[in-house]
Amino acid sequence: MTETTPPYGSGPGAAAAAPAKRVRIHHLQAMKERGERFAMLTSYDQMTAEIFDDAGIPVLLVGDSAANNVLGYETTLPVTVDELIPLVRAVSRSAHRSLVVADLPFGSYQSSPEQALATSTRFMKEGGAHAVKLEGGSPVVPQVRAIVQAGIPVMAHVGFTPQSEHGLGGYRVQGRGDAGDALVVSALALQEAGAFAVVLEMVPADVAKRVTAELTVPTIGIGAGVDCDGQVLVWQDMAGLRRGPLPRFVKQYADLRTILGEAARSFAADVVSRDYPGEEHTYH
Ligand code: KIV
Repeated sequence: MTETTPPYGSGPGAAAAAPAKRVRIHHLQAMKERGERFAMLTSYDQMTAEIFDDAGIPVLLVGDSAANNVLGYETTLPVTVDELIPLVRAVSRSAHRSLVVADLPFGSYQSSPEQALATSTRFMKEGGAHAVKLEGGSPVVPQVRAIVQAGIPVMAHVGFTPQSEHGLGGYRVQGRGDAGDALVVSALALQEAGAFAVVLEMVPADVAKRVTAELTVPTIGIGAGVDCDGQVLVWQDMAGLRRGPLPRFVKQYADLRTILGEAARSFAADVVSRDYPGEEHTYH
């Protein structure tokens, strides 16, 4: 295995055979150069970090989406650095191979490059993250540059950026028509500032294809078509844990909400009927 060979292959069984070697940003870069696609999932806790790490998911994002997937907020806006750090710590302690990326929450980096670097430093020191992610285009280029210059890898995020949902007028596809050119310009500026990857959220597929072709660093799509270098989903969406309507870009690979609900109902029924605990669960 050469220095740039990623720890995970992409073929069947590759994860099971993979040595315990940390995914690094240069592995993702090498995958782009080889034309290999990779997956990123969100994770916010020990169990999913272990499961996804074992499954060979190269990148785990402790997203600010913890706000509306773990902490019960309606949007990502209220979540704080202090709330996210323990989640990042749980994931980074539990994932032995995946690259762990910590999302900088709203209000923790926009003010200045100094604020962005101070927040990123907390996620690296207190959370044990391997990289950080922030949302925004050209306005956050100085932030990206400052964080990267301090030796912290930065993942950028353009297109629909949930922290700006009120400014963007709700959950809407970004980059249609003339706005496509501006999106390409932003992505190039973020790359030039040192971003090691760029998330493209809710962007027309043809625009995402163009960005992916123009950037030398990987793009990671969420609602951005099949031509991105990687794809990311919120794990609760991917595994069918969420209630209610889902965005068009989500594909559900399991129905965990039904499975968990049935397990809970069976447990409660067994308690009522005294079938649980059985003799085999009882100490004498
Ligand atoms: O916070 C998050 O989960 C994200 C992904 C949707 C990219 O930013």
